[in-house]
Amino acid sequence: MVSPLILVNLKTYHEGMGQNAHRIAAAAETVGRESGVVIGIAPVFTEIRPMSQHYAIPVYAQHIDAITPGAHTGHILPEEVRAAGAHGTLINHSERRLTLADIDACVQASRRLRLESVVCTNNDSTSAAAAALRPDYVAIEPPELIGSGVSVSKADPGIIERSVNAVRAVNPDVRVLTGAGIQSGECVKIAVDLGTSGVLLASSVVKADDPEAVLRDLVSLI
Ligand code: G3P
Repeated sequence: MVSPLILVNLKTYHEGMGQNAHRIAAAAETVGRESGVVIGIAPVFTEIRPMSQHYAIPVYAQHIDAITPGAHTGHILPEEVRAAGAHGTLINHSERRLTLADIDACVQASRRLRLESVVCTNNDSTSAAAAALRPDYVAIEPPELIGSGVSVSKADPGIIERSVNAVRAVNPDVRVLTGAGIQSGECVKIAVDLGTSGVLLASSVVKADDPEAVLRDLVSLI
């Protein structure tokens, strides 16, 4: 059986920058190796290359832009994300929404560049729409629960179940992640039992005094 994916988004939290980011990546590498669960990290762009080079973990960009090389200023070029060593990328995170046309272009660019694509969505209808674009993953995250400390697995398991069904109905090859408030092994187990392939999370790991202990708990029941 393929391992579930635990994807830790460092966002732009102070606690996820510099040495703190490396401490989390090192913890992800250790816990991933010991548990056999794949733990990925989505750091800020400037950390993609160092993290890809120094840690045996999949590294993801937090965003790419739907552009090709040329006259664009202040954009994130998918080719350079790949060249920096990224394994994949988030697309359309709730804190970095895109148009449907741009999501489609980003998924296509990811496929062309062999970047794993994780398209974030906010409900089951948008999960179905995202699945039609054939990304590797759809990540359902109710925006009101993001950073709330209240877990989607416990507060709204129905949205996970409906999204899994909606995605399967459109394209059974697309895997589903869920996120928002995920903080324990129990949250991860509920998500996996509901048919997801893992979780996307941030604050419970990034803001923890001991990120390694939280990661150990997250993988403890799967
Ligand atoms: O990308 C993960 C995210 O939006 C969920 O954040 O802090 O609720 O785990 P958090």
